[in-house]
Amino acid sequence: MKNKLEDLKKQILDELAKAKSGELLRELEIKYLGRKGELSNILRGVKDLGAEERQEIGALANAIKTEVTAKFEEIKKETESKETATGFVDVTLPGKKIVRGHLNPISIIQAELEDLFISLGFMVADGPELESDYYNFEALNIPKSHPARDMQDTFYIDKKNAEGEYDLLLRTHTSPVQVRAMQKYGAPLKAVVPGRCFRSEATDARHEHTLYQFEGFMIDKDINFSHLKGVLELVGKKLFGEETKLRMRPKFYPFVEPGTNGEFTCLLCKGKGCRLCKNSGWLEVIGAGLIHPEVLRAGGIDPEIYSGFAFGFGLSRLAQLKYGIDDARLAMSGDLRFLQQF
Ligand code: DAH
Repeated sequence: MKNKLEDLKKQILDELAKAKSGELLRELEIKYLGRKGELSNILRGVKDLGAEERQEIGALANAIKTEVTAKFEEIKKETESKETATGFVDVTLPGKKIVRGHLNPISIIQAELEDLFISLGFMVADGPELESDYYNFEALNIPKSHPARDMQDTFYIDKKNAEGEYDLLLRTHTSPVQVRAMQKYGAPLKAVVPGRCFRSEATDARHEHTLYQFEGFMIDKDINFSHLKGVLELVGKKLFGEETKLRMRPKFYPFVEPGTNGEFTCLLCKGKGCRLCKNSGWLEVIGAGLIHPEVLRAGGIDPEIYSGFAFGFGLSRLAQLKYGIDDARLAMSGDLRFLQQF
């Protein structure tokens, strides 16, 4: 009986060593360890043996069962990990689609414009969104009592300065970076400034309290209106296509003299007149002009030696025009159904 058990153990271990697949292992497990398996049969017969033999054979059979079971588990684990590592790949199954992100339409236009201006030798500058009253208004020739302040209401920070005034606000435009850049880099200077701005607006389809602007300026000796016109024409062509024309008409901004707007032929009707351009054939997108001597002075630049042009426009509005977006609030809504279209 003892020999029979030892032989059986050897036989099981030999066969186990040869078993390579999970399927074969399962067959062997049933054959030896299953309820009707050979080892179980012997264990079941132990109770019919004489007392002395029963103890000895019982202990041996149990020990063998434990050992063999452990071996089974070990080999099972090995073959399992091998099978998954070199696992079967069904190349006919449909693949898993990798979802790519989308750029916000405002970012797309911003990048296009940055490319254009970098190719013209402009630097891309940056400025704080939390701005002082001085840079946002005063340095741009908009004193406290000036009615132009009404056009750009904003959010003030609830903290007074030493003079007891509310001095910190969320910038209403990117123009304050003109003076900051002049102070930092001096003249000559060529820079564009994309950035986030804020207005205290009751939001609706045409107004949003958070918007993006794009500012540009160039300061050097003998800069004049023709330089401004040339650059704005390039902007129009880049944004709306080669055939785009520019029209400039006088407009007041406190920080330029003279001031002008910039209108492009309507991108929808190409100037014929349609609903988008209110039948005029033109879309007004830009504010611009020659930098006011007071603003140059605030930036530490002598207006007797240098002159410059500046322009600014809403990237958010441009994106709306270019992509036919009918609600200003969509761009910042974080709605993926919106973003996935670009
Ligand atoms: N800052 C003006 C605005 O937010 C836009 C603007 C107009 C910028 C004229 C300029 C400029 O640089 O010269 O409405």
